[in-house]
Amino acid sequence: MTRYLRLGVNIDHVATIRNARGGLHPDPVRAARLAAQAGADGITAHLREDRRHISDEDIDRLTREIDLPLNLEMAATQEMLRIALRHRPHAACIVPEKREEVTTEGGLDAHGGRTHLKAYVDDLKAAGIRVSLFVDPDPLQLDAAMALGAPVVELHTGAYCESFLHDQGGPATRAGFAKLENAAAHAEAIGLECHAGHGLTFDTVGPVAAIPTLVELNIGHFLVGEAIFSGLDSAIRRMRALMDKARAEIHGAKGA
Ligand code: PXP
Repeated sequence: MTRYLRLGVNIDHVATIRNARGGLHPDPVRAARLAAQAGADGITAHLREDRRHISDEDIDRLTREIDLPLNLEMAATQEMLRIALRHRPHAACIVPEKREEVTTEGGLDAHGGRTHLKAYVDDLKAAGIRVSLFVDPDPLQLDAAMALGAPVVELHTGAYCESFLHDQGGPATRAGFAKLENAAAHAEAIGLECHAGHGLTFDTVGPVAAIPTLVELNIGHFLVGEAIFSGLDSAIRRMRALMDKARAEIHGAKGA
């Protein structure tokens, strides 16, 4: 049976716009409230080391004021671990972080970083926080995540989405997508819950949402950008509808 596909709305870039002027508007917590009404199943926020968008106060308010589960994206640092343990979000997604990068440019090296990551996974799990590792769609990384005891992986969809920009569904898009499909199947086979995200748009979400073993997509930048043209509520509702359509078509294809 195909599982329900949750939508986590990432509100980082509402904070990016707010921070451009240093004031209080637009308020990411207000965006989170609106996302809940528009059909989001969770809120995702990345507290970066340089606080370029989400602030400590945003995390504090999101945990106190929003009823939806919060997925805190965090680097594997002692500072972020302390913050996660203080706020105890529903979930924490460990991501690689470099100050000079514009966004999270690739997955975590769960394989190479085993020794460093183990204590973070253990401490977050011990606090009852659902831990995921943001990794490239590479079976080696999934095996490493499993060995680390992470119950969840989030597959980085950035390369697939980037390829779509260049060839709109051509060979590079198909190759990127095949990696996601294979990785999702591998995650299922070894017993990992599988999520996906990064760079997803109305054009790229459908095939990803149709991967039946995925249970959550996290989407942010495109939704906040699209909100400029159609409003955040409408952008989220349309994304949700595209995800639901893709899921319904899996059933259709199987004659269910
Ligand atoms: N998932 C993870 C782990 C991320 O780091 C990000 C970006 O912060 C996203 C999903 C959402 O990516 P985007 O903003 O491109 O939709």
